[in-house]
Amino acid sequence: MADILQGKVAIVTGAGRGVGRGVARLMAQEGASVVVVDPGVNVDGSGFDASFAEQVASEIRSEGGTAVACTESVATMEGGEKIVQSAIDSFGKLDIVVTCAGILRDRMIFNMTEQEWDDVIAVHLKGTFTVVKHACILFRQQRSGRIITFSSQSGLVGNSGQANYGAAKSGIAGFTKVVARDMGRYGITANSIAPRAATRMIGAIPESANEIRARGGVSGLSEEGELEQLDPDDIAPFVGYLASDYASNINGQTFLVWGGEVSLMSQPRPERSIYNPDGHWPTDELAPLAAGYLTRDIPNPAPAQPPR
Ligand SMILES: NC(=O)c1ccc[n+]([C@@H]2O[C@H](COP(=O)([O-])OP(=O)(O)OC[C@H]3O[C@@H](n4cnc5c(N)ncnc54)[C@H](O)[C@@H]3O)[C@@H](O)[C@H]2O)c1
Repeated sequence: MADILQGKVAIVTGAGRGVGRGVARLMAQEGASVVVVDPGVNVDGSGFDASFAEQVASEIRSEGGTAVACTESVATMEGGEKIVQSAIDSFGKLDIVVTCAGILRDRMIFNMTEQEWDDVIAVHLKGTFTVVKHACILFRQQRSGRIITFSSQSGLVGNSGQANYGAAKSGIAGFTKVVARDMGRYGITANSIAPRAATRMIGAIPESANEIRARGGVSGLSEEGELEQLDPDDIAPFVGYLASDYASNINGQTFLVWGGEVSLMSQPRPERSIYNPDGHWPTDELAPLAAGYLTRDIPNPAPAQPPR
């Protein structure tokens, strides 16, 4: 280990399992003191089990690192404030926030309940805001800080059966770009990761969305077999890099990370345009031009299926 986070204090939410656990352990190995945040909920957000956060914190300590467990939920403003306060109470400062906490409540849009929508938005989108907002109050005062959020290909590209999750993850990518602009002038950076890794979250998908997708003839984002091979600990080194002094000018970006591969995602920009110098388009001119040029040969991600 290179000690690239020596003397830093990091909060990692959702660190009791999966990707977050790997991030917390790597940050500790790189010299950071870590607040391991996790209420140990089930994949649908129900339940509570303090042992997950405590287990990871004790693993870190047994490896010679410094960590405390925190079982607050990210889903409320009060929880976000307590999580940030926990870093101050335990280690006297805060340098890095990583927001890995997540749940899944997959359902096709026509069957999705308000509760399923609200729960997923609360943990992912609001749960990113609650911690980042309170951290940013400190970061602005101290003129330093690193924010690494977790988006998903489901939000960047779209994945059937995940309207709540995709909306939250797309929202997190947009949120991160705005926070990058709000906080960059104070020397703070905010970047987002879209990971792919075999965790219990992915293990939950075959019983829900993958079955629905398969029934509807719609493919998922990746082959299941391929995802099962991907070690969640492979995400951590790049998160460590973004949190380090090496990445002091990397701001407002999204990275796809899995296995040994890290990709910088492109920023959305116009691909093809049509232009009417007279301003408002008459529809009888617009429709044939749009069909013949602007929207020609665009693949449909979910083409109509024959009736069953
Ligand atoms: N695994 C993948 O392939 C993949 C793909 C895209 C995005 N992601 C994202 O990466 C992040 C980590 O996912 P993972 O695969 O490690 O999942 P995971 O289920 O293994 O871990 C998520 C952790 O978040 C915790 N959590 C849930 N609700 C919480 C709350 N209210 N407050 C605090 N913690 C809470 C859970 O207890 C759990 O330990 C998530 O944001 C997920 O959406 C993962």
